[in-house]
Amino acid sequence: MRKLILAAISIAALALVGPVSAQSPIVIKFSHVVASDTPKGKAAEKFKELAEKYTDGKVKVEVYPNSTLYKDKEELEALQLGAVQMLAPSNSKFGPLGIREFEVFDLPYILPDLKTLRKVTDGPLGTKLLKLLDSKGMTGLAYWDNGFKQMSANKKLIAPSDYKGLKFRIQSSKVLEAQFRALGAIPQVMAFSDVYQALQTGVVDGQENTWSNIYTQKMHEVQKYATVTNHGYIGYIVVVNKKFWDGLPADIRKALEGAMVEATKYTNDIAKKENDDALELIKKSGKTEIITLSTEQDEAMRKAMMPVYKDVASRVGQPLIDEFLKETGRGPMN
Ligand code: LMR
Repeated sequence: MRKLILAAISIAALALVGPVSAQSPIVIKFSHVVASDTPKGKAAEKFKELAEKYTDGKVKVEVYPNSTLYKDKEELEALQLGAVQMLAPSNSKFGPLGIREFEVFDLPYILPDLKTLRKVTDGPLGTKLLKLLDSKGMTGLAYWDNGFKQMSANKKLIAPSDYKGLKFRIQSSKVLEAQFRALGAIPQVMAFSDVYQALQTGVVDGQENTWSNIYTQKMHEVQKYATVTNHGYIGYIVVVNKKFWDGLPADIRKALEGAMVEATKYTNDIAKKENDDALELIKKSGKTEIITLSTEQDEAMRKAMMPVYKDVASRVGQPLIDEFLKETGRGPMN
C-alpha cells in the first residue's frame, strides 16, 4: 500500500516537472493535516488570500486541509518529490527525515509561554534551525504557532503514576516517545488523522494535543478527562520545495515572502485566543471533565519528565539544548 502511495506521488510529481514560470498561473499546493478552523488552517487561508493578491493572480494557492491529500509522513515525502509545494508540519515531524534538531521544541516544559518562544524562533537559533532543511530539499519560510499541549484520557490524569501502563498516541518524535516512557506509559506513533478513531475504539487510551486540535478533531467526545498540563508545545515550520522556490521569478518570490510575513503575524497573533476559545467550547460541550493541577501536582509532573532531557541529549544534541535554554533564559522546573 505504502509503495503504491509513493508511486502515485512520484507520477504526480513527474507531471509537474517543467520551468515554474512557464506555468500560468503558478500553482502552490499547500497540504496540511488539521481542520480549516484552527490556527494553521486559518494561516494557510490567509497566506492564500495575500499571495494571490500580491502577485495579481499570477500565483494560485490551493489549500488541502484535514489530510485530504496526504497524511503526516506522506506529505513530507510528497513535498520532497514536488507533488505539493508547501506544508506546515509540526516541529515533531521532521525526525524521520533525519533532522532531529526540531525535536528540541518537544522537550517537556522547555517553553514557559509564547513570548519566550518568539525569542528562539525570531532569533539566530531560529534561523539556524531553518537552514538545516536545505539539505533535505526544502526551504524553511516561517514558524507558525499552535500552542501548548494538554493531556487527555478516559481516566483522570493527575499524578505521574496515573499514566502508568496507558497507551498514548504520539507524533513521530523520539522526544515525545521518551516523555511518555518517563511516565511509565506506552507511546504509539500515529498519523494525526487516525487519532479520533484510535481513541474511540480503544487502540490508544489517551493523547496529548492543543485545545484547538482536540476540539476540531472531536477528540473530547471520546475522552472523558483532559488535564491542563501545558507540558509541551506544538508549532509549525512552513516549508516549500526548495527547487520550486528557487526556480520562481524573483519578483514573485518576493511577493510571496511578503505574504508569508503577514500570514505569520496574523496566525501568531490569533493562536492563543483560538486555543482559549476551543477550551471554552470543550467545557461547554459537557463531554470532557477538565482537570486543573495544583502547584504541587504540576511540580510532580515536571519532575517526572526531567529524565527526558538526559535521555535524548545525544539525539537532539546537548549543545543545542543548552543554546535553547540560554535563549529562553528559563529552565524546565521554573
Ligand atoms: C499532531 O499530529 O498532533 C499535530 O502535529 C497536528 C498539527 O498539525 O497540528
